Amino acid sequence: MVSQTQRPDIGLRIDVIDQPEDIIQAFDCVCEAFGRQVQDGVWIAMNPGWDTPQGKASGAERMVARWRNKTNDKNGLPNTVFLKATLPSPESESRIIVGFSIWVQASTVEGHGDPPVEDLVNALDLNTLYPGNEPEQRYLCQVISSLHKRRNEVIKEKATATPPAVMILDLCVVDPAHQRKGIARELVQWGIDEAQRRGDLEATTEASSMGRHVYGQMGFQADGPEVEYVVDKEFASRSKPPNLFMRTKGSGV
Ligand SMILES: CC(C)(COP(=O)(O)OP(=O)(O)OC[C@H]1O[C@@H](n2cnc3c(N)ncnc32)[C@H](O)[C@@H]1OP(=O)(O)O)[C@@H](O)C(=O)NCCC(=O)NCCS
Repeated sequence: MVSQTQRPDIGLRIDVIDQPEDIIQAFDCVCEAFGRQVQDGVWIAMNPGWDTPQGKASGAERMVARWRNKTNDKNGLPNTVFLKATLPSPESESRIIVGFSIWVQASTVEGHGDPPVEDLVNALDLNTLYPGNEPEQRYLCQVISSLHKRRNEVIKEKATATPPAVMILDLCVVDPAHQRKGIARELVQWGIDEAQRRGDLEATTEASSMGRHVYGQMGFQADGPEVEYVVDKEFASRSKPPNLFMRTKGSGV
């Protein structure tokens, strides 16, 4: 692991989100990073109208629903943890959310984490997102299946590990206005530490072309080539973001 260069203390805090208002505020960071900055084609397809007030509100609402519906493992720990990174606001006593990450404990063994998603149409609520739009629903199922192919294989491989689970960094964003201040590093370190606390679990992620710079310095290594998106011919020309499956313990289960 690369040692962190001395940075000025910016008053950064990492906390577990425990109120829906924070998810809504954090969703702004997600829109700024994945929508405006990266223009990530898959994220945009999952969040139609993200750059309109109504589309943004719907996206935030879906995220709040996900937060509300989180499950616990047999030890009572949440299988999904939503983290916020905050800085003191320059204008008031309050703090502003500048980064957001989601960590998921996953397992095929009951009580040890959320199982791999089988029914993407339901899990992604595609009938609400794209009612009656079969091609768009099919496209999203194909890209998400491709993106999570290796993740799901590893969850299954871990069924014989002790404990039989992995910690997945499912999402990590930092508001572009606050990038390169070491914020992602702290959001990632929290999850790595939590994985350790939960029984030395391996951490995995699908790393974007920006994210891999951070994760590579924090003990994640690439496992396999760039994600290959297996989609029907009609979707071949759509822009799909580069992603690399990365994990902290190599291929040994
Ligand atoms: C990827 C992302 C989360 C990184 O957030 P961040 O807070 O800026 O990252 P950090 O400041 O913690 O970076 C730590 C180190 O990683 C490396 N790094 C981070 N971003 C980098 C980039 N874009 N290019 C090259 N190196 C980078 C640097 O070595 C950096 O240290 P330094 O600034 O002292 O050189 C942020 O750029 C982002 O939200 N991008 C858009 C969405 C995205 O791709 N998310 C990742 C999904 S997997």
